[in-house]
Amino acid sequence: MSGSLEDELGDVLEKSRDGKGWTQSDLAQASGMSVSDISRMERYEFVPDDSVLKKLAEVLDLHVPSLIAVAKGTWAPKAIEPDPGPFEIICLDLFVGTYPVKCYLLICKATKTSAVIDTGGNPEAIIKKAKELNIKPEKILLTHAHFDHAGGLELLDKTYNCPAWIDKKEPRPSGSRDLRLLKDGETISLGNLNIEVLFTPGHTSGGVSYKIHDSVFSGDAIFAGSMGRANSSWSELYNSITQRLLTLPDHTRLLPGHGPATTVGEEKRHNPFFSISRGNN
Ligand SMILES: [Fe+2]
Repeated sequence: MSGSLEDELGDVLEKSRDGKGWTQSDLAQASGMSVSDISRMERYEFVPDDSVLKKLAEVLDLHVPSLIAVAKGTWAPKAIEPDPGPFEIICLDLFVGTYPVKCYLLICKATKTSAVIDTGGNPEAIIKKAKELNIKPEKILLTHAHFDHAGGLELLDKTYNCPAWIDKKEPRPSGSRDLRLLKDGETISLGNLNIEVLFTPGHTSGGVSYKIHDSVFSGDAIFAGSMGRANSSWSELYNSITQRLLTLPDHTRLLPGHGPATTVGEEKRHNPFFSISRGNN
């Protein structure tokens, strides 16, 4: 086990209802449960037994064993192996208030050139870490504009005076004096590295992921054992995950904005939303 998951049963139920456009009453009717029990599950107050979880998974088109494992907390992705590419990735566990968020430093080993991927809301921790590592980030790459990912932009901009990138469909976060707009498939150079931009919208309309070698900084598109909240479009988010992320090789590391790191293979085997194609056993 490598850290508790971002999402629990209640989140997975709510997000899968969202995908079907169902209310709690719709789910109650389809599953034969009471609205009150659905509501208790979504408030993290109740985990039913396996037979009920199986029924819920079936009506919501979720993978039965994966939903049971997430509901009971018996699965977490295996700790990932470091990417053997010519770079170092530092994961920073930060907080916005009490809410945990992950930001990353990507460092080209040959040139010591570095970038910040997402700023968190307390960028002082990023600045402190960069000082410890004796690096001065020269690029800021944003997966999306939510405050827990872009709220630290102003202080990082003041400290490093460097450009920041974001998709044009996102609201423009304040604080950058040199904000650049991304194109799908473009590459951003960092020292000897080339970072590939993958558009993965759906959590927000301009959500993007950044791929370097066998690692993807995936923002809030997919979480270990779940998916992001579909603030702009559920089907777009589902397609981003199934067509852009889970089509990458199984060993590809997924480094999300919340919860533990995982791999494409782990999610294809254990994510209730995406392991359905493997059959319900
Ligand atoms: Fe977000």
